[in-house]
Amino acid sequence: MKIKKLTSVVLGAAMTAMMLAGCGSSADAGTPAPAATSGTEATTTTPDTPAPAAEANGKKVGVSMPTKDLQRWNQDGDNMQKELIAAGYEVDLQYAANDVQQQLSQVENMVANGCDVIVIAAIEGSSLGEALDMAAAANIPVIAYDRLIMNSDAVSYYATFDNYMVGTIQGKYVVDALDLDNADGPFNIEFTAGDPGDNNAGYFFNGAYDVLKKYVDEGKLNVVSGQNTFDAVATPGWKTETAQSRAENILSSNYTDKDVDVWLCSNDSTALGVENALAANYNGKYPIITGQDCDIENTKNMIAGKQSMSVFKDTRTLASQVVKMVGQILNGETVDVNDTTTYDNGVKVVPSFLCEPIFADASNYEKILIESGYYTADQLK
Ligand code: BGC
Repeated sequence: MKIKKLTSVVLGAAMTAMMLAGCGSSADAGTPAPAATSGTEATTTTPDTPAPAAEANGKKVGVSMPTKDLQRWNQDGDNMQKELIAAGYEVDLQYAANDVQQQLSQVENMVANGCDVIVIAAIEGSSLGEALDMAAAANIPVIAYDRLIMNSDAVSYYATFDNYMVGTIQGKYVVDALDLDNADGPFNIEFTAGDPGDNNAGYFFNGAYDVLKKYVDEGKLNVVSGQNTFDAVATPGWKTETAQSRAENILSSNYTDKDVDVWLCSNDSTALGVENALAANYNGKYPIITGQDCDIENTKNMIAGKQSMSVFKDTRTLASQVVKMVGQILNGETVDVNDTTTYDNGVKVVPSFLCEPIFADASNYEKILIESGYYTADQLK
């Protein structure tokens, strides 16, 4: 089965990446950054991280995260902070409550406060212009973290997971689970995508849709609501509540007398909205539901059979890669990238490092999430 092959390949790669990254365990919620003071303290935080690097001496790294409301960003911020402190940097970690103005002023402060490199996971890819101009004027390199920063030449590098591959994994899962190449169908499907202001969201949706389009065109997959374009299925802010109310409307308008067989959701926060809507508003056969991130609530739902799969993006792997990039930049070394063609931000193609996403479901979550130390078994109870 295709998905099984994919799973083992991707899993193997991820385990190797984890080993190479020397990942420590950390699933704690992020806390505001204490200033790093000593390498000793740092080594205690992440025991298996190498000793502070010479280039870190006295250097400060700004880390701007979008929000604490979604689980993954807490883990991203937490991991970045731990890894940077362990490498000997001072860290200024800020969360912006999904408020673009707040993120803008936080990044401006990072420039004003003399950060040597700034790492940004943008709330809205195109809204940081002024802060980026300030960073460029002060010669401060900017790394776009997870989400590409658009329309600016001030972004030096981009580190993320392969966003298109995330969608491909979801789409292939559906093909496999319904045996679409052999089954007659038709099967009913709905789509829920992400935030239009997040450049990743289109990649996720297109990755999945490109796999499924053929079956939609053949009539094996029937989009009963008729909503099958990114704009029609997007979820502003990736909000669970927004995904839920749209799903409730779709269910009450289209599914009172039929089953929905698949709900292709781009990530876990939107999948949770669909799962809530199904619980409140639907009596038919329970659909296949996709997700991304392996958030705790969604992993519990996978275990309980309420979500079929997710895509694991190990924030420890991404954090390690970005810390490595920071060191290479400050040392004047060649920066590791593995993609120099895909991520055009409207002004330039940003040299990128793409980490590999991993298929996750109820059959492998123990191995990839618990045995790897990402979560404790108790967190998933
Ligand atoms: C990230 C996803 C996440 C989503 C909502 C995207 O940019 O890549 O992992 O689910 O934002 O936070």
